[in-house]
Amino acid sequence: MYRLVFLGPPGAGKGTQAARLAGDLGVPHLSTGELLRAAVAAGTPLGVEADRFMRGGHLVPDDLVVRILAERLARGDTARGFILDGFPRTRAQAEALARITAIDRVLDFDIPETLLLERLTERRSCPKCGTVYNLKTRPPRADSVCDRDGGPLTQRSDDRPEAVRTRFAAYRELTVPLTEYYRAQGILERIDATGPPEAVEERLRRTVTSVPGEGL
Ligand code: AP5
Repeated sequence: MYRLVFLGPPGAGKGTQAARLAGDLGVPHLSTGELLRAAVAAGTPLGVEADRFMRGGHLVPDDLVVRILAERLARGDTARGFILDGFPRTRAQAEALARITAIDRVLDFDIPETLLLERLTERRSCPKCGTVYNLKTRPPRADSVCDRDGGPLTQRSDDRPEAVRTRFAAYRELTVPLTEYYRAQGILERIDATGPPEAVEERLRRTVTSVPGEGL
C-alpha cells in the first residue's frame, strides 16, 4: 500500500511531484488545496466560506478541510493507497486523519524558504486541466497559454507576495510541529527538495520504493 503524505512549505514542489508519481503508483493524488479551489470555483457554500481564508493565505478551519478530505477518501479509488498533498497541516487534522486511515509514510520536503518565493510568484496554472507551469523553470511553449488545451493560464490569488508571507507563517507555526508527531511514529522521511524536478523525483522514487515488497 502507498498511503503517503507529502508535507512541506508552500512552493516546495509537493503538487508537482504528486502529479508525477501518482500515475506510476496507481493511486489518486488528493490535494486539499485543489479540492478547495474547485469548491470556490463552483461557488458551493463550502467554497464561499473557504475563499475568505484562502485569499489572504490563511488556513481554512480544520472542520471544513477534514470534511472535504473525508468525503474524497470515501470515493473508493484508494485500494492501492493515495498521495495526500497539503493535508494534514495541523495537529487536529493529523489526529482526525488517524481516525480515518493508517498512513505508511510521510515525505517531508526540505527546502530553504529563500528559494520558494520566486517559485510561487512565477507559478501559473491552467484552470481547465490543472497543469502547473513556472514562467522561469517550466514555461509554457506559447506565452500565457496551456500546452495541453490552449486555454489561458492564470495566477493563484494567494500567490501574491503578501499572501505568500502569511502562508509561510502558518506553515512554520502550525505545520512544522507535525514533523515531530510523525517522527515519533517512525514514518517520517526527509526529502531534499532542492534542484530540478527530475532530481527531486528520483530521490522520492528511491525512498518510496524502499518500502519492502512495493517496487515501482
Ligand atoms: P495548497 O494548494 O495546498 O498550497 P501550498 O501547500 O501552499 O502548496 P503549493 O500548492 O503552493 O505548493 P507545492 O508544494 O504544491 O508546489 P508546486 O508543485 O505547485 O493550499 C492553498 C491554500 O488552501 C492554503 O493556503 C489554505 O488556505 C488552503 N488549504 C489547503 N489545504 C489545507 C489544509 N489541509 N488545512 C487548511 N487549509 C488548507 O510548485 C510551485 C512552483 O514551483 C510551480 O510553478 C512549479 O512549476 C515550480 N517547481 C516545482 N518543483 C520545482 C523544482 N524542483 N525546481 C524549480 N521549480 C519547481
